[in-house]
Amino acid sequence: MNVLFATSEAYPLAKTGGLGDVSGQLPRSLQAQGARIRLITPGYRGVLDNVSKTTVIADLLIDDYAIEIHESTLPGSRVKVWVVVCPELYDRDGGPYQDASGDDWPDNAQRFAIFDKAVCEIAQGRTGITWPVDIVHCHDWQTGLIPALLKQEPQYPATLFTIHNLAYQGLFPYQTFLDLGLPDAYWSHEALEFHGQMSFMKGGLVFADRINTVSPHYAEEIKSREFGCGLEGLLQHRASALTGILNGIDPREWNPSTDPHLKATYTKRSLSDKALNKQPLQYLFDLPQDPDCLVVSMVSRLTHQKGVDVIVDALAELLDLPLQLMILGTGDRRLEQGLQSAASAHPTRLGVKIAYNESWAHLLIGGSDAFMMPSRFEPCGLTQLYSLRYGTVPIVRNVGGLADTVIDATPKSLNQAMATGVIIDDDTPAALVTAIKKVIALYQDKPVWQKLQLNGMRQEFSWAASAREYLQLYRELI
Ligand code: ADP
Ligand code: GLC
Repeated sequence: MNVLFATSEAYPLAKTGGLGDVSGQLPRSLQAQGARIRLITPGYRGVLDNVSKTTVIADLLIDDYAIEIHESTLPGSRVKVWVVVCPELYDRDGGPYQDASGDDWPDNAQRFAIFDKAVCEIAQGRTGITWPVDIVHCHDWQTGLIPALLKQEPQYPATLFTIHNLAYQGLFPYQTFLDLGLPDAYWSHEALEFHGQMSFMKGGLVFADRINTVSPHYAEEIKSREFGCGLEGLLQHRASALTGILNGIDPREWNPSTDPHLKATYTKRSLSDKALNKQPLQYLFDLPQDPDCLVVSMVSRLTHQKGVDVIVDALAELLDLPLQLMILGTGDRRLEQGLQSAASAHPTRLGVKIAYNESWAHLLIGGSDAFMMPSRFEPCGLTQLYSLRYGTVPIVRNVGGLADTVIDATPKSLNQAMATGVIIDDDTPAALVTAIKKVIALYQDKPVWQKLQLNGMRQEFSWAASAREYLQLYRELI
């Protein structure tokens, strides 16, 4: 079974969030279980700098763009990577989707449409690459045109479209639809049109043979008005083709017993060593060095999705409680500023770093006592899974993948050794404060706290299990 895995980011070549983690790991597990995988991704500057021993395997001309396909391997693995090299579109100083100051690239529609067209050419065997494609596995809006374009061909490989986040849809004006030279018939609400705009996401949702999302809970939620982002009708219509497969985690990258970013590594048996990571964390965030103080952390994109505004509104009350709060993230400027000004007003309680830093993320997840995710919606969420593995108690909303992976601490669930975290009841500051007060009470009861940590550390979220489910889906597709 030959699977072309098309993604706009894959760790360690490129990562802006969980999609990068997933695309860096799932192909390895699929390959380990016998699928033949080629990962295909755009040649951003960071990708070109990080691939080695590349060979040019094809030259293409798409809409006047000269493109080369370079073959290499995903660093640290045996997964073959095909990089779509087009310096004019991708070799820039900035991120995959945004420039260095955080604004979307103005030509994102062209950048990803050309990528999608290149993937289709390869999938159709028109590039001289002799590797017959059975399935194209697409991820998020950036790859949404692939299923739509393939459907126009007399014969085409099967397509699976994975939704990692329905809220980002790749919406562009009608003029862009015309500029991209897409078939006229696709300007219809039964195809790519969405309330007068063109939607890349709809290309995947309407035309893919199967659709999945990254947790069973989110697969149900997106069929409702509250979570469907206006696409709930279409998703209800496609319900028989839609499933949920929970993400896994990379057990080598996220492992408290070997993590090089920690000051002290630890296991379930040496859990007391976890505490040795608190002091470097307090030093990093310039907060008082108090080994007994409850440290609650967050590592996140700073957006409405993640409930960062709820945190900002709750800060006055939260920072009156016996705890230290440490937040690492980048995102909406207004939220960044709100957090930063609160940190200046409360220098002994709140530490904020507006940065993207993989090493600090590990230290925060390993060194803090609890990890906060008051998300309004969460397709899967990976950081709560990392936290569980590190004995860091997750504090989460009861939505999406969070609901599938965290069990609220109640007298009953604690008794049954099932409890792994604390649930926040809704998206109000008051609910967040209530949940944090519950965490403080649990933290004060050391034996109970330790049980909670160990229950979390015992959870298994392996990619092997998810890969088995994807393979089953692939089999059904062909
Ligand atoms: P999402 O994909 O919605 O952002 P996930 O929980 O699935 O959420 O994945 C987020 C990933 O991005 C995690 O690996 C997390 O550690 C990482 N991450 C987010 N913000 C930062 C940051 N500021 N610095 C380092 N890593 C970050
Ligand atoms: C998205 C979601 C996140 C999920 C990630 C990987 O970015 O917001 O919940 O974990 O994709 O699937």
